[in-house]
Amino acid sequence: MNELGLTMGREAYAHAVAEQDREREFTLLDMRWHQLGGVLGGEYNHATGLFASWLPRDGVGRMLEMGCGCGVASVVAALSGVPRVTALDINPAAVRTTEMNARRHGVADRVRGLTSDLFEALEPEETFDLIFWNSPFIEIPLEQTHESALAYHFFDPGYTMHRRFLGEAAKRLTPEGRLFLGFSFAMGSAERLREVAGEAGFGVRVHRQESFSVPAMELGTSPVYAAHADDEARVHIDFTLLELPR
Ligand SMILES: C[S@@+](CC[C@H](N)C(=O)[O-])C[C@H]1O[C@@H](n2cnc3c(N)ncnc32)[C@H](O)[C@@H]1O
Repeated sequence: MNELGLTMGREAYAHAVAEQDREREFTLLDMRWHQLGGVLGGEYNHATGLFASWLPRDGVGRMLEMGCGCGVASVVAALSGVPRVTALDINPAAVRTTEMNARRHGVADRVRGLTSDLFEALEPEETFDLIFWNSPFIEIPLEQTHESALAYHFFDPGYTMHRRFLGEAAKRLTPEGRLFLGFSFAMGSAERLREVAGEAGFGVRVHRQESFSVPAMELGTSPVYAAHADDEARVHIDFTLLELPR
């Protein structure tokens, strides 16, 4: 497990739970977005915006966004010309938010939202040219269970959800289909990811990455931040769009 990710994730989760009843709007990629209560967005959206803009669109007729949240990647893909986008989330409030945002930006005819535990709500034969998940890449102990819908945003016990996702993603891609994961080496469990990806027949390579550093003190008072800081007391963070080639 990644101590820095676990600490950042637990603090962000506590903050999100305290705020979860608030319905709001936010700006990302110069667009306004709805966010219903019980869905994450707002201050956690920097990575969301990066991944949504970095995903390739050429030759993509059908795209699947797993864990759509507010639906930013789905709506941006539809606006960029992807004709059929399926947005799935285990959290029904996320699916409703995605549908509201698709309507708001005039692409409701191209974005289909479904509440689904991974691929469960899809027809058996449905396949996609591109599958993307900004996944809950913070690994927590296997025995720990999720106590709220928001926990699904951040955490994966023992990367069991990643293992299930990758196992099925292999069958849901068209022959030329491409698989992408939103990830962070600073916060996620890279070795564990390589392991579960390998089991499903995928490699792992960086498609695009943004790295930056933050003063440890700005992150919080936990000694974990100081322990992960460099000589100038700064913690290095990355947001990385991974491609998982077969
Ligand atoms: C890191 S958030 C990403 C949200 C949004 N796509 C974004 O980029 O901001 C992970 C999302 O995956 C969803 N999720 C977690 N486990 C899931 C599962 N088993 N099936 C479907 N969605 C799941 C969560 O509810 C959450 O919306």
